[in-house]
Amino acid sequence: MAMKGGGYYSERTRGAKDVIDNASGMLLDAVDQISPPRGGQPVTLADFGAADGGTSQEAIRACVSKIRSRFSESQIQITYTDLPNNDFSALFRNLLGYNQESQETYLAEFDNVFVNACGIGFHQQLLPDESLDIGFSATAMHYLSEKPCTIDNHVHMVGATGEPAKAFSDQAAQNWLDILVARAKELRPGGQLVMLNFGIDEQGRYLGNTGGVNMFNTFATLWKQMSQEEVISDAEFKNTAFPQYYRTIDEFCAPLRDETSPVFKAGLRLVSAHTGVVRCPYRRAYDEAGGAMSAREFAVSYIPTLRSWSEAVFLSGLDSNRTLEDRHAIVDTFYKRYEDLVALEPAGHAMDYVHCYLAMRKAG
Ligand SMILES: C[S@@+](CC[C@H](N)C(=O)[O-])C[C@H]1O[C@@H](n2cnc3c(N)ncnc32)[C@H](O)[C@@H]1O
Repeated sequence: MAMKGGGYYSERTRGAKDVIDNASGMLLDAVDQISPPRGGQPVTLADFGAADGGTSQEAIRACVSKIRSRFSESQIQITYTDLPNNDFSALFRNLLGYNQESQETYLAEFDNVFVNACGIGFHQQLLPDESLDIGFSATAMHYLSEKPCTIDNHVHMVGATGEPAKAFSDQAAQNWLDILVARAKELRPGGQLVMLNFGIDEQGRYLGNTGGVNMFNTFATLWKQMSQEEVISDAEFKNTAFPQYYRTIDEFCAPLRDETSPVFKAGLRLVSAHTGVVRCPYRRAYDEAGGAMSAREFAVSYIPTLRSWSEAVFLSGLDSNRTLEDRHAIVDTFYKRYEDLVALEPAGHAMDYVHCYLAMRKAG
C-alpha cells in the first residue's frame, strides 16, 4: 500500500513533516550516542518507509550536519527504504531539489554524502549485519506485512471486534518482533534506532480520533453508504481494510522489556518511550483564519491529506474486473462526499497525529 505518487505525498502531508521536525532532536541525540566510525568506514543512516523523502529532508539535513561536526572526516551514507511500488523517482527528485525553488538540499550542501534506496519491505533485514549507525522511521511501522483477514463492518482495525480484532493484533505482534529483530541485526553495537510510530495513546486517542469526529468511522460510514446505494458491492465493502495496526505504548515496549524475547536477545534496548499529539495543520489554519476561510475552503484543503495515504486502500478494495477509470471515478466520488460532509458541518473534523516516540539502542 504505497502512498499516492508524483510528489503528491509530501506536498499534501504537512502534518507528517511537523511530526518529524518536532522530533528531530531525537535524531540529534542519536548522533551524540553513536561510536566513532572504524577504519575509514562511513557513518550510516537509514530512513525506513521514507515515501518520497520530502517529509524527512530537513531532519536528515540536521542529522547530517551534526554527524559532520562530530566526525568531520567521515563519509556519510543514507539509505532510503520503502515498498517496491513506492515512487522512488519522486524521492530522488526531492533529494536533488527538483521540486524546490532553490534546489538547495543537503546533497548540494555537504560533500561526501551518498544516498541509495532499497525497495524491499522493512519486515525483513535490509542491510548487512552490524552495518547501520542510526535507523530512523516515521509514521510507517503501523503497516502490516499483510492483511490477516477482512473486517465485515468497518475499514480499519480500530473498528474491529472479536476474531478480526484478534487476527490483526496477532499479526501486528509478530510483525513488530520481525521489524525489531531485523533492525537489531543491522545495527552496529552502540547503534541507535529512532521511531515515530502511529499508535493509540494512554487516553485511547489515535490518528483522526482526538475528541472530535472520528475519521476512520467517517471513512466506514461513507463507504457503507456507497454499498447500500449499490455504487459498490457488499463484497467490495468487506474487501476494503487498511493493512494497519495501531499499537499501544505497552505493545511497543513489551518485546524490549522481556528478557526472553528474540528482540532483547538480539541486543536491542529501550532508551525512551512516550506518546504525543501533533495537531492537524489544516484544521489549525482554519481555526486561526477565523472567518477569513470558508468551511468549503477548509474541506478542500483538508481532504487531500487524508487521500494521500488512504486512496490506495479504497482503490484496492474494488473489484479488479472494473476498469481503472471506473475505480478512480468511485474513489473520486467517495472523497467528494467526505469533502461535502466537512464543508456542511466542519466542527470536529481534524486529522490530529497521535504517535508513540521510541528511542532504542543496540547494546555493546
Ligand atoms: C504514511 S507514509 C510515511 C512516510 C514518511 N516516513 C513520513 O513520515 O512522512 C508510510 C510509508 O510507509 C511505507 N510502507 C508501508 N509498508 C511498508 C513496508 N512493509 N516496508 C517499507 N515501507 C512500507 C509506505 O509505502 C509509505 O511510503
